[in-house]
Amino acid sequence: MLQDKITQYTADINAFSTENADELEQFRIKFLGTKGIIKDIFDEFKAVSPEEKRTLGKVLNEFKQLAEAKYQALKENDTADLTRKDAGLDLTLPGAGFDVGARHPLALVRREIVDIFSKLGFIVAEGPEIEDDWHNFSALNFPEEHPARDMQDTFFIKKGGEKGDIALRTHTSSVQVRMMEAGKPPFRALMPGRVYRNEAISARAHCFFHQVEGLYVDENVSFADLKQTLFYFVQELYGEGTEVRFRPSYFPFTEPSAEMDISCTICKGAGCQLCKYSGWVEILGCGMVDPNVLENCGIDSKKYSGFAFGMGIERIANLKFEIKDLRLFSENDVRFLKQFKTSLI
Ligand code: PHE
Repeated sequence: MLQDKITQYTADINAFSTENADELEQFRIKFLGTKGIIKDIFDEFKAVSPEEKRTLGKVLNEFKQLAEAKYQALKENDTADLTRKDAGLDLTLPGAGFDVGARHPLALVRREIVDIFSKLGFIVAEGPEIEDDWHNFSALNFPEEHPARDMQDTFFIKKGGEKGDIALRTHTSSVQVRMMEAGKPPFRALMPGRVYRNEAISARAHCFFHQVEGLYVDENVSFADLKQTLFYFVQELYGEGTEVRFRPSYFPFTEPSAEMDISCTICKGAGCQLCKYSGWVEILGCGMVDPNVLENCGIDSKKYSGFAFGMGIERIANLKFEIKDLRLFSENDVRFLKQFKTSLI
C-alpha cells in the first residue's frame, strides 16, 4: 500500500516542473508542508510491521530527499531568474559587439604588396632608418654635388663619420646596398619601410612617408623581366586589364631608368580629376641596377645584372582608397582609421 503510494508520488515529483513561484509554493505545501504528503506518509509508516519498516524506511527517506531536492532545484532556478531580471539582463537578446580595432590602411596596403611579390619568390628585407652617406647616397651612385644630398631634402643628424654624414634615410634603396654588401647573388627581395624628406607638410607632401622597394639580381636579368614582374604586380593589385606604360626617367642608381604609369583606377583611362584628364597615373620608379652600384657592393657587374623599383605606399593607398589628404595617415584619428576595418583584413 504505502510502497504503491510512494511509487506514484515519486513519478509525480519527477514529472513536475515550473518557473512560476506560486506553483512552486503549492508544490512545497503539498509535499513538504506540515500537513503535506510526506508528513502523512511518515505517520502511516509508524503503523507498518517491523520487517516492512526495514525495507520501507530507506525508500521513504529517499522519497523525502527527492522532494526536497526538487524543491531546492526549482527554487534556485527561480531566484537566478529573478536576479537576472532585476539586473535588467535579458539573456535572450543577441550579445553586444565589441571593437576589435583595425589595421592601419598603410599596413593593409604594404601587406598586400608583400603578398603579391612573395608569390614570385621575393623575401622581405629591413634596414636602419638612421643611415650613413655611403648606404643612402654614395654606394647608390649619387654624384657628390647631387641636389638630393642638399639640406633641403635630407634630415642630417651628424656631420662626418666613418661612412660619411649620418642622416635619416631618404629612401629604402639603402637596404638594397646593405643586402648586396652582406650576401651573394641571386637577390630577390622587397624593402618596405619609413623614409624621411625635409618637406613642408601639406595635403600632398609630408616629412616622412613609406616605401616598398624591390631588388632582383641574378645572371641574365633583363628589362623584359622587370616589365613582366611589374605587369604581374599591377594585375594582381588593381585587377586584370589594368594597363601599364613606361616612361624614360633618371635615377642615379639605375640605367636605364623609367617611371611606370597605370591606367587610371577611377576613370579607367577615360579622363578624370585624379589623372588630370590624362587617363594615366604614375605609381613607381624603376630601372636596371647601374653596374657602378653592383661594383660598389662587391658584385661582379659583368656576370650579374638586376632590376630595382620603388613605390610610395601612401600613393598606392591613395589610389586604392581615394584619400585626398596625406596628413590623415599620421594623425591617428580613429574616425578615419575605423573605416578600413572590413576592407582588406
Ligand atoms: N629610390 C627611389 C626613390 O626613392 C625609387 C626607386 C627605387 C627608383 C629603385 C628606381 C629604382 O624615389
